[in-house]
Amino acid sequence: MARDGATGGRVSVAGVGLDRGSDLPLYQQVAAHLRNQILDGRLSAGTRLLGSRRLAAELGCSRAIVLTAFDLLYSEGYLRSVPRGGVEVAAVARASAPPVPAPTPSSTASDDWLSQRWRSVLDTRYDFDLGSPFSTGTPDVSGFPFDVWSRLLRQTWANPPRSACVDMSPLGWQPLREATAEYLGAVRGLLCRPDEVAITSASSGALDLCCRMLLDPGDEVWVEEPGFIEARWSLKAAGAKLVPVPVDEKGLIVSEGIRRAPNAKLAVVTPSHQFPLGVAMNLERRQELLQWAGQHGAWIIEDDYNSEFRHRDSMTASLKSLDRVGRVVYLGTFSKVMLPSMRIGYLVASRLFTEAFARGRARIDVHTAGTTQLALAEFLRQGHLLRYLRRMRKVYAERQAAVLDALRTLMPDELEVPPTPAGLHLTALFRPVLEGRITDREVSRLSRASGNFIQPLSQCYLGEPDRQGLLVGYGRLDAKEAHPRLAAIAAALRSA
Ligand SMILES: Cc1ncc(COP(=O)(O)O)c(C=O)c1O
Repeated sequence: MARDGATGGRVSVAGVGLDRGSDLPLYQQVAAHLRNQILDGRLSAGTRLLGSRRLAAELGCSRAIVLTAFDLLYSEGYLRSVPRGGVEVAAVARASAPPVPAPTPSSTASDDWLSQRWRSVLDTRYDFDLGSPFSTGTPDVSGFPFDVWSRLLRQTWANPPRSACVDMSPLGWQPLREATAEYLGAVRGLLCRPDEVAITSASSGALDLCCRMLLDPGDEVWVEEPGFIEARWSLKAAGAKLVPVPVDEKGLIVSEGIRRAPNAKLAVVTPSHQFPLGVAMNLERRQELLQWAGQHGAWIIEDDYNSEFRHRDSMTASLKSLDRVGRVVYLGTFSKVMLPSMRIGYLVASRLFTEAFARGRARIDVHTAGTTQLALAEFLRQGHLLRYLRRMRKVYAERQAAVLDALRTLMPDELEVPPTPAGLHLTALFRPVLEGRITDREVSRLSRASGNFIQPLSQCYLGEPDRQGLLVGYGRLDAKEAHPRLAAIAAALRSA
């Protein structure tokens, strides 16, 4: 920066090097330079700048770049124009000290600048590997009908109605709510009206909003033990006090929940296919749970994450379909049956709930992205999802059978694999012979080393685990690879 006779008292920017290899556009580099000079007092209020042509010549860039930088600084209040076309520095609050650099991952020694709730979310240790052939809950997308999908995306957006573009309901695109209600009747036997359905940003997004809607900080919430780690994150972020409630072969032990926290505000459960154990909650426990919720004014979130993939005929009715008092909020997702990255799911609840949900949502994130909703409504309406689902059920049933066979052949004395009628994973429990020899975390570590990462069951516990085991996902596992890949795990167990 120079002020001399040659510039007639105006300030030049001679010497400012523009970096043409940088990702930062040139006009932003010019603006950043001037802004910094103003903020640290080197350019004081009233200082006249050289004209844009002269500045451009000095910098060796086009005049348009200088004018764009000026426009930016005018809009930010750093510069103002003066009569007869000049530009001068405006009076702005100057930085009293050098600006504090924003924290970067390498300079952040601790997370104490984050809220306690966010820290409690980040503090949970969770080992997983979405790229592993044994990843739980990862569907196989290689046979997805992308040709149909892309045609529907194109068609629905060729001439969209105004309401799809600017004022979609917080509860989602009405034709999609209707198609989802019909789909749930056909696939889950869940009879509901479209006005009880809300389209959400997958089930994680729905859970997060429901937690904030229903809970105050410090409210007690029953969570299954062992349970779904990711659900606990939203609960913690909402300030909930988590109360682990054990699960046995009949599902959640409701009497234990009542003993530990009778006045809990909410219970989050996976009754059709408990995550991670895979058991279905029996009718008696379901009724006990509904009765407790009705008597205490508590809410139940039913996460029905992948019961569309039934491998046997036994379809377990949803808890929602038994709910006579309107305390169950049913969550479902298109992540598993279509594409996880689509981030679309739904909730089904009483109208009282969905109306309050809509009013709150309109103030938080408005609604789930609309682009996909239009195509998805057609995908459902034209029967593509049911066809795809029928195909994938066979594929996953074959993969489950291959994993069961491999586990039972390779490790019959070490692992016990309870029957699992649905889903994309099996949980193999350690038999007593392994006790004291090796932990599931150690097996998991060894599995990572061989490129076959398997999640340990013990990380799904909030408290001290009373069982050890392995969560063997098969969504994207080639059935032929089940045996050779699990043989590596068997060798690790034997050598322990
Ligand atoms: C128990 C459980 N619930 C829900 C989900 C689905 O999450 P989303 O719909 O957010 O993709 C998963 C995914 O793995 C899951 O395992």
